[in-house]
Amino acid sequence: MSFPFFKSDKKPILIAHRGASGYAPENTLSAFKLALDMGARFIELDVNQSKDGQVVVIHDDNLKRAAGVKKKIVDLTREEISNYPLKKLANGHYPPERVPTLEEVLTLISRRAVVDVEIKGGNSGYTGIEEKVLGLLERKGYNGMSTVSSFNHECLRRVRELSPAMHLIYLLGLKPLKIAIGEMRESHCEALGVSVSQISRSVIQLAHQRGLHVCVYTVNKRPMWEKLSLMRVDAIFTDFPDLLGMPEYEEPTLGLTNGE
Ligand code: G3P
Ligand code: CA
Repeated sequence: MSFPFFKSDKKPILIAHRGASGYAPENTLSAFKLALDMGARFIELDVNQSKDGQVVVIHDDNLKRAAGVKKKIVDLTREEISNYPLKKLANGHYPPERVPTLEEVLTLISRRAVVDVEIKGGNSGYTGIEEKVLGLLERKGYNGMSTVSSFNHECLRRVRELSPAMHLIYLLGLKPLKIAIGEMRESHCEALGVSVSQISRSVIQLAHQRGLHVCVYTVNKRPMWEKLSLMRVDAIFTDFPDLLGMPEYEEPTLGLTNGE
């Protein structure tokens, strides 16, 4: 199985990392709306799970960085989480933001972009989050136009058990590549997500030889994008979806709507 979104032997696909997070507060409705307005057609977001089992869109497992509050997501209900206003960016002019739920974000995007849901939760994970994420993606019409990614192989394994068709991105983290490739084969992950600090020609070559796509995060400068493009990576995560100008952008075409 390979990603229908990626066109091999073309330029890398752009994935808006946490929305247009270089301009708007990351993982917020403003950041996702701006990414769409900039023309992004593939958007990444991070999810954690609240005390009452809601899937909420936030990178960290606590509110310290996003809202300046020393509280863990898992210890708060969805309603309690939404009571904390998120910090504003110094030069951004955005409405007051709260942590959105995955459902709210999927509604906002409204199938105008492919969505990559990164399930957070570390090695222990969140009980039942995989079922919830898959259920929401299905209910909101994102089957076939979504991916799930994780640094946690147990999580990817569980998603694969639940959904033979979901596209999976295996985030490498600190695992040796050999072990990662074995785990990817086991849970039929089609793409390897690698940090720009770890990427090399040999990693790309090894992955491509095994029929795996290579996605690199997070690239915010044009020279690095060009270098990676020449190295034939398949997708690049960026906080600045307007970085390259949309004419150079390889657009995934699959089943996207105008949001109507
Ligand atoms: O999915 C790529 C990237 O988002 C993984 O790292 O820390 O930005 O979630 P992080
Ligand atoms: Ca992420």
